[in-house]
Amino acid sequence: MSINKIVKAGLVIVAAVALFSCGTRRSPGRAYMPDMTYSVAYETYAPAQQRLEASAKAKNELSPFYSGMPVPGTIARGEMLPIHMSSNRDSAMSAAGIKNPLELAKVDLKEAERLFLINCAICHGTKLDGNGPLYNGGNGPFAAKPADLVASAMTEGSMFHVATFGKGQMGSYASQLTTTQRWEVIAYIHSKKAGGSTGAPGMNADSAAAASAKPVTADSAKAAAPKG
Ligand code: HEC
Repeated sequence: MSINKIVKAGLVIVAAVALFSCGTRRSPGRAYMPDMTYSVAYETYAPAQQRLEASAKAKNELSPFYSGMPVPGTIARGEMLPIHMSSNRDSAMSAAGIKNPLELAKVDLKEAERLFLINCAICHGTKLDGNGPLYNGGNGPFAAKPADLVASAMTEGSMFHVATFGKGQMGSYASQLTTTQRWEVIAYIHSKKAGGSTGAPGMNADSAAAASAKPVTADSAKAAAPKG
């Protein structure tokens, strides 16, 4: 075999390897280490639905798929610490004594009013009298009569409990409003109860009925006064 032939044969082999090694095949070829080829997929930012379906399929608590819900107890950045309550009756009763943790004079009542009008006024009405467009004196599409919030004897804490867990035909607003926003709305309601637009002194007002259910403080006595 001449040198020339060897070179030519070599060129043919190189060309053949070059031709056959490049294809349009996208598969990784034979999986001789399947663990590596088909690794458990953590699709961190995959669409939630896809993740939920995947974990339903896996039917396994140890499924690596994220459920789409934050871990229980998660607190959003900048959010106030949660008030520990639950939906049960005892918790609803004990909520009565909880004070609005917001510094009332600092509550932005314009913002609180905006939140109330968006979330609550459709039922409770812009006058808070329980006659919003959804109820409309019984002619609206919502059959249950929303409570008259001005006349309501509820304390701030109980109202917060209602806004968080709902009551009767009213649902929870915990997923629409953050803890702070719910307290803002409660502050707004109480500013209306006190009858003042400035609100500040009256916002702490618990109604006389509510005040009688717990120790009357100088504050609550004073606060109840503007109503009369
Ligand atoms: C879909 C209509 C609807 C919406 C929206 C709604 N509520 Fe209600 N709410 C009701 C009804 C109906 C009741 C009466 C429930 C009962 O007593 O069985 C009620 C009762 C209440 C009570 C109890 C008052 C009392 O004295 O018993 C409070 C407090 C309250 N709502 C606050 C709110 C707040 C705050 C919002 C907005 C975040 C809101 N509601 C949004 C329908 C609604």
